[in-house]
Amino acid sequence: METSEFSSKNNVSTSQEVEEPCDDEMFQELVETLPKAKGYNRSYYFYQGFWCPPSYFRGLLSFQKHFQAFDTHIILATLPKSGTTWLKALTFSIANRHKFSLQDTPLLNFGPHNLVPFLEKLYSENPCPNLENCSRILSTHTPYASLPPSIKDENSKCKIVYVCRNPMDVFVSHWHFVGKLRRPEYMEQLSIDEGFEMFCQGIHGFGPYSDHVLGYWKASQTNPNKILFLKYEDLKEDIVFHVKELGKFLGFPFSKEEEDQGVVEEIAKFCSFDNLKEMEGNKNGKSPSGFPNSVFFRNGVVGDWSNFLKPSMVEHFVKLIQEKFDQSGLTFKFS
Ligand code: A3P
Repeated sequence: METSEFSSKNNVSTSQEVEEPCDDEMFQELVETLPKAKGYNRSYYFYQGFWCPPSYFRGLLSFQKHFQAFDTHIILATLPKSGTTWLKALTFSIANRHKFSLQDTPLLNFGPHNLVPFLEKLYSENPCPNLENCSRILSTHTPYASLPPSIKDENSKCKIVYVCRNPMDVFVSHWHFVGKLRRPEYMEQLSIDEGFEMFCQGIHGFGPYSDHVLGYWKASQTNPNKILFLKYEDLKEDIVFHVKELGKFLGFPFSKEEEDQGVVEEIAKFCSFDNLKEMEGNKNGKSPSGFPNSVFFRNGVVGDWSNFLKPSMVEHFVKLIQEKFDQSGLTFKFS
């Protein structure tokens, strides 16, 4: 089994600069020039150093070209399976707490993905959507290096929140997610060994993992007022602290009165895995991508990898983490 890479394959260019194609023919021509790889359940395009799912690609190009960040925008950035759904619910609740109480929040009836759209999806439906009518909280899986310039512009006051999760839990979560969405008539169950090999080669949505995480990590170190870098495991350990931090960072600090009334704890509890997964919109609704919202809730714990990974896989992950993250100052918790 070839699992010695945790990042982009060396033989693939990482510096593609392409203009947004103006019509289907140009789009097809572009797609034909891109390196491709078969991933878990589909092929991916290798573009600007990351593996993009084809269903996101057209939207990504329009997003990159046309998106103009407002100072009020809050961009939630993640690698899939790192805690996106949780972060969306938390941010929505914090930012809208004066508009909706937890007794009448739209989160009671709609999934977090229905309330906080993915930019790549938004731009795939319309290459120039009217952002005035859109939520100020938006999300993306696009790596930092490939974000549109207006988000990163030093004059822009829009904020980015990134949540990272330890790679072993991301992998296990992803493997289950793909398995649940699999249509048995078209696809056999992917073995964990096959999934592991692809993940280690960086061939998963918006991977390689290490490039994605390090891109946002480094940017957050350089610009901590603009980018808040969170870890899933830290949120699990002390969610009340992080709800307060998020409020402060996003410009919605909790007042002393709110803290005394227990508003922070209420939001933390409302957005907890056990509570959120029982909401009507999450039990029975569908995400804008057409997935049942229930697939975004599995068990929501830290360290589930220990139930699935073989010792040799763990060893491999540990070695790769040492190689990729040792000099970065970023560390991971696994339990
Ligand atoms: P597991 O598969 O390990 O359970 P994403 O939202 O980025 O797709 O990530 C999904 C992962 O986050 C899943 O992990 C899911 O169970 C977990 N999750 C969803 N909502 C959560 C919440 N409110 N609190 C903690 N974890 C949550």
